Amino acid sequence: MSTSPIYWPLAQGRHSPQAHADLPAGSYEREMGRDGFAGPACHFHHAHPPTGWSAIDGELRPRAFDFNLLSASDTCPWSAPLLLGNRQLAIRQWRAGQPTPLVRDADGDLLLFVHAGAGTLFCDWGRLDYRDGDYLLLPRGALWRLEPATPGPMLLIEAIDGRYDLPDRGLLGRHALFDAACLRTPVIDDAFLAQQGDTPTAVRVKRFDRVSTLRYPFNPLDSIGWHGDLCAFALNWRDIRPVMSHRYHLPPTVHATFFAPGFMISTFVPRPLESDPGALKLPFFHSNDDYDEFIFYHAGEFMSRDHIYPGMATLHPTGLPHGPHPKAFATAAAGARAFTDEVAVMVDSRKPLLVAPLPDGVEWTAYADSWKG
Ligand SMILES: [Fe+2]
Repeated sequence: MSTSPIYWPLAQGRHSPQAHADLPAGSYEREMGRDGFAGPACHFHHAHPPTGWSAIDGELRPRAFDFNLLSASDTCPWSAPLLLGNRQLAIRQWRAGQPTPLVRDADGDLLLFVHAGAGTLFCDWGRLDYRDGDYLLLPRGALWRLEPATPGPMLLIEAIDGRYDLPDRGLLGRHALFDAACLRTPVIDDAFLAQQGDTPTAVRVKRFDRVSTLRYPFNPLDSIGWHGDLCAFALNWRDIRPVMSHRYHLPPTVHATFFAPGFMISTFVPRPLESDPGALKLPFFHSNDDYDEFIFYHAGEFMSRDHIYPGMATLHPTGLPHGPHPKAFATAAAGARAFTDEVAVMVDSRKPLLVAPLPDGVEWTAYADSWKG
């Protein structure tokens, strides 16, 4: 099948020579794009910020959540309530109690993002220490438990429709944005072997979101060795080395970390901002029309958002544009920042993300009005 665009680039009116640079004075650029910044796109130059609505009538609105207010502290991840999801993807937040039971996810690959806390993962492949800022990838069917030394909240991002994969780095080469040598894998060591034995053990298996319990007269986490190319692993954001350009604001997809059927996960890590006078220094307004965008804010100060702090999250659905808050423009115009220390996890979902009923106060209902300044 041909992938040629229907149109070659056309232009009308006053416009910049290329995307994200040298915008017509006083204008606001909006990218209308397909395929998550990789497909056909048009850059409009607007007289007003595309987020300058005075009201939104109806359900469609950008949404923000303070997950710090979730009291989800439980020993079993299968008790963590669903926050957002669809048929391909489920997002939960879990605060691992101590000790956690042995569990297995038969519904999908599970990616844990450790927002805070540290401890040890025990799984079929052995033992692996984890800390804040780690992604822990547990393939569907893996048997695992955590021993948190310091409990803390973590996001559970479940890929229901297939497995997680790493993105192709293309022209950047296979060692960008992190070298696969940075993936930490479990070890079968004395500490792992020491936890094996004849202690009666229950395994809680989640299938089709229902939990069954397998009971063994011994600890089934009893592998003494393994080989293969399927393995649990950890990746910390501190091992991600971002790419940037001093003259061009790169689209968020350059920060892609994982792909799964129906969605992708990107990691924003500390990086310099663009320095060229004509280059856009903030994320461009866009209506990423093929993807709902969920962002979890992990650490640092978020350059394009006001009143968003670590532990909060936003959802920008398809159907309306989003972009920087007014104060971010003022900061950028003053040249006050040359670097961003933000760390965030973005989940772009091809199918609409539905928000589950949340406890009172978790949603910041005034978020849609927050661009009014
Ligand atoms: Fe976006």
